[in-house]
Amino acid sequence: MTQNMQGALIGCGFFAQNHMNAWGALDGAEIVAVCDLDLAKAKAMAARFGIARVYDSPEELFRNETLDFVDVVTTVDSHLPLVKLASSHAKTVICQKPFAETMADAQAMVDAAKDAGAHLIVHENFRWQKPFLDMKALIEEGVIGPPHFAHFSFRHGYDNYVNQPYLAEIERFAIMDVGLHLFDVARHFMGEAASLSCSTQSLNPAVRGEDAFTALMKMETGATCICDCSFYSKFSPEPFPNTAAVIEGSEGTLHLDRYNQLTVHSTSGAVTRNADAEVPDWGAKPWHCVQDSVMNFQRHAIDVMNGRAEPHPSGEDNLKTMTLALAAYDAAEQAKTVDIASCVEA
Ligand SMILES: NC(=O)c1ccc[n+]([C@@H]2O[C@H](COP(=O)([O-])OP(=O)(O)OC[C@H]3O[C@@H](n4cnc5c(N)ncnc54)[C@H](O)[C@@H]3O)[C@@H](O)[C@H]2O)c1
Repeated sequence: MTQNMQGALIGCGFFAQNHMNAWGALDGAEIVAVCDLDLAKAKAMAARFGIARVYDSPEELFRNETLDFVDVVTTVDSHLPLVKLASSHAKTVICQKPFAETMADAQAMVDAAKDAGAHLIVHENFRWQKPFLDMKALIEEGVIGPPHFAHFSFRHGYDNYVNQPYLAEIERFAIMDVGLHLFDVARHFMGEAASLSCSTQSLNPAVRGEDAFTALMKMETGATCICDCSFYSKFSPEPFPNTAAVIEGSEGTLHLDRYNQLTVHSTSGAVTRNADAEVPDWGAKPWHCVQDSVMNFQRHAIDVMNGRAEPHPSGEDNLKTMTLALAAYDAAEQAKTVDIASCVEA
């Protein structure tokens, strides 16, 4: 029997519960130490998941532990120092999104991992959600032909701020939070963007940053792609945390509704299937599709650790997603269409 990859998780807050549950459910990797600046949170996580070693200092963690991988689940402001440190102590570093707030920080993490010879994987779990895996497979089978239009839409009225109070405080919210996921999915299906325009809205007066945006992209292939998101939309039943999507090709259209029902349209008619994920043993609705995607992502990370796959997406790949998110702010602030090539050259 091969030995499990040994890892440490840094950041024992809200979303890390999903990471810990998923690591516990998968073969091939295990968390042997947890760390949080708030020792009480680290201890509570260790008690819940039976982890022997607990730290409130990342430096001390890395002094004491021999690790194959590090899972960074802190908020964005701590990613640069943690990813740099982790890269020099483990062969695989996983970092939650948003990867960084600036391109300089993101590039510094990519460089640090490269210099250390470590794999750097960004925890972009939307592309690992079951409905998107199904849609990708259908497109690769040629069911709709080459895509020429796509629309990815995440709109809801769920009270996110209870679990993630920091979301109400940050200056750059909807684009840097869910927008990054949508841009990653857009690139995954439609390739790279040539230009982008964007409109933002601040709808909820209790929220500091923009809580809605609509971005329109012209892709390098000539395709059109729209990404939109709102944290202030009323639907019944509440669709959170699902993403709706339409992808049109020359031979047909894929339509994913807000409740994970996927319809394949072609000239011979329309067929609808349930594309929702199963609720993991450890999971609960309405989070099950996200929780399942965390397991899919982490299964992939184990494949990367064992040399069976390349990071999907890597830190380097995520630079392009970040470029779109930052371009969306420029486009919205200056009411202009941004040429993406000029952002990359800048
Ligand atoms: N991919 C997804 O679907 C998804 C969903 C929710 C949150 N997230 C992301 O996960 C990250 C964490 O979000 P959260 O809601 O769990 O945040 P959180 O505030 O609940 O937890 C973060 C934890 O990290 C700890 N921490 C901060 N800096 C640290 C450092 N330098 N060393 C050790 N510990 C440190 C904090 O004390 C806190 O306990 C965010 O970047 C968020 O955007 C992703």
